[in-house]
Amino acid sequence: MKTTVPKAAILLSPPHMSGAEQHYIAEAFASNWIAPLGPHVDAFERELAEAVGAGHAAAVSSGTAAIHLALRLLGVGPGDRVFCSSLTFVASANPILYQGAEPVFIDAEPETWGMSPQALERALDEAAKEGRLPKAVIVVHLFGQCARMDEISALCGTYGVPIVEDAAEALGSSYKGRHAGTIGRFGIYSFNGNKIITTSGGGMLVSDDGDAIREARVLASQARDPAVHYEHSRPGYNYRLSNVLAGIGRAQLKVLADRVEARRAIFERYRTALEARPGIRFMPELPGTRSNRWLTALTVDEHLAGVTASQLVAWLAEDRIESRPVWKPLHLQPLFAGARFYSHGIREDVSARLFRTGICLPSGSAMTPEEQERVIERLKAGMKSGQAAAGT
Ligand SMILES: Cc1ncc(COP(=O)(O)O)c(C=O)c1O
Repeated sequence: MKTTVPKAAILLSPPHMSGAEQHYIAEAFASNWIAPLGPHVDAFERELAEAVGAGHAAAVSSGTAAIHLALRLLGVGPGDRVFCSSLTFVASANPILYQGAEPVFIDAEPETWGMSPQALERALDEAAKEGRLPKAVIVVHLFGQCARMDEISALCGTYGVPIVEDAAEALGSSYKGRHAGTIGRFGIYSFNGNKIITTSGGGMLVSDDGDAIREARVLASQARDPAVHYEHSRPGYNYRLSNVLAGIGRAQLKVLADRVEARRAIFERYRTALEARPGIRFMPELPGTRSNRWLTALTVDEHLAGVTASQLVAWLAEDRIESRPVWKPLHLQPLFAGARFYSHGIREDVSARLFRTGICLPSGSAMTPEEQERVIERLKAGMKSGQAAAGT
């Protein structure tokens, strides 16, 4: 009897180890620095700050924790407003809820898929008139592409509102010669398993404000006051990164530039193979910026392509290829029902359109050209006379 061997799965963005991680882990074990904190943590903070050109960095247990600390340091509390990009993962906005503040969502714009300066301007104008300016604006650099930071910084500067850059997906990306995450008052990165480099789980808060970063480390360590015994005068968190994981991060950071090159090459191969197909548009790259192309994203115009983005996701899954829709905008999530939302145009909800038409393709830096060819051929077959549509 003939047996068919199932095809290997191709994942969206799996971890990609360099091999050197074991050396750092062994060092942590040999010195018995297993607990949170330790020499790898200090070195990882220093090395990351240097790599991105930030003054200071605090290593923490996740990107979400880093956003939470940034909001706490900015004094966000109950009754305050925080503006946030709508087209993002829920982790960008959850810390607003942790602080008991009110999220206000700002639409995306078509050239960066990041925060729309037009929508932000309307939101800030209105908030100023109401006398309720936000305590912070969280700007997300989506899939590695930087948002329009010049326009956003100018608007926030006019109103005196600090920016937190959510660069969880954008480590290694740059905006006009500056690293993503180093333009606002605070920047955050994620080292979650699916990110461009990973510690299995972890994050980093960066800023040029050394006092704030020192305070972040205290808050992340249960806010212990200086005393021999355990003295506490305000609430803190258990957010520090372990020395073992920081060791993994140090090895990963050394290959960051290679990982960016690999993901950019993957994006280019997809683009070369598929760009001419009717109805297909790849995520743009704003002039003056360099995306790490964490995920290759594109939109599908169903009238021209004959299939929808969600039909293509299902079609790829049938062949054990993992792809994903673009993030569902936060203003459309049940969790944030009733939250204010400012659209890009008066009647133009760009993030909802990108959600409806967008798809993220497998983009792992360890993906082989043969695997990518399999994805491309499957996509072509799905688009050809709407086969993916017929199959669903
Ligand atoms: C845009 C964005 N913000 C925040 C996060 C949260 O990072 P973490 O998973 O490390 O908490 C992620 C990813 O997980 C993300 O994609």
